[in-house]
Amino acid sequence: MTANTPQITLNNGVTIPALGLGVFQSPPEETAGAVETALHAGYRHVDTAAAYFNEREVGEGLRRSGLDRDEVFLETKVWINDYGYEATRPAFDKSAGKLGVETIDLLILHQPMPSRFDLTVQAYKGLESLLADGKVRAIGVSNFMPEHLMRLVAETDVVPAVNQIEVHPYFQQTAVQDANTKHGIVSQAWSPIGGITFYPGWGGDDRRSTLDDPTIREIAERHGRTPAQVMLRWHLDQGRQAIPKSTNPARIAENLDVLGFELAAEELAAIDALHTGVRGGPDPESITLAEHGAEIPEA
Ligand code: A2P
Repeated sequence: MTANTPQITLNNGVTIPALGLGVFQSPPEETAGAVETALHAGYRHVDTAAAYFNEREVGEGLRRSGLDRDEVFLETKVWINDYGYEATRPAFDKSAGKLGVETIDLLILHQPMPSRFDLTVQAYKGLESLLADGKVRAIGVSNFMPEHLMRLVAETDVVPAVNQIEVHPYFQQTAVQDANTKHGIVSQAWSPIGGITFYPGWGGDDRRSTLDDPTIREIAERHGRTPAQVMLRWHLDQGRQAIPKSTNPARIAENLDVLGFELAAEELAAIDALHTGVRGGPDPESITLAEHGAEIPEA
């Protein structure tokens, strides 16, 4: 069964399902099963990253699903240790090798590295060459702030297809979303149901979970839906691509089942009003090799 997930057309004409499976923090031993379950439930997009260290298991899940390679949109990310023009092709080979595929649908830079923006630009130029060679179908970035986008676009030829950023009701980054729109870049929401607001071990004990938010709960009850479904519907209605992470079969299915209800304009506005300004992930300005470096093993 294939769910009727709407598609989003990227700026180079390639289409991506509006909802995909996220696997950030999916333990490798649970990842293949989650991917297989999601593909059987109707997902056709999986987002991983070299630095999640579970690309091999994503590939395993794809093969176990029995689907053809071209039925599934695979996205992964180059980690900062592999930045630089010459380093990007070996980074592609590592990811493609672990995934067990010849081409990657969407390959993006995981972070800007503001202290070495020259290397970030060179890495992006490496992605451009992979695109020209047909190794990838689209290229993009993640966690880029408007000034990073401006500098990148000024120094390179291909406008990123996506900018994957933290967006959930408590942290919405509207200025980044506006900059993306201005450049013709699709905003992809990571942690779209606010998992980052309740992951064990992240942030302080006083943090509130988006899943327990009274406004979201009330809207969910009104529609006979769950808070996660309401948040995902909010993303789709505002034109964002979203990648909820789950390794639980019931929640994987729940997160794709978001088309049978509609949010009213005032409900969307009520969710917009929940923005707290508190970022869950690291400040993109702070990313350095010294603090965040991690060797990405060969395939
Ligand atoms: P689990 O994998 O056990 O389902 P995000 O993608 O916004 O970061 O959210 C991921 C977190 O939310 C994970 O902890 C995941 O746990 C949990 N989660 C995913 N889907 C749902 C859901 N429908 N309801 C409640 N929690 C969910």
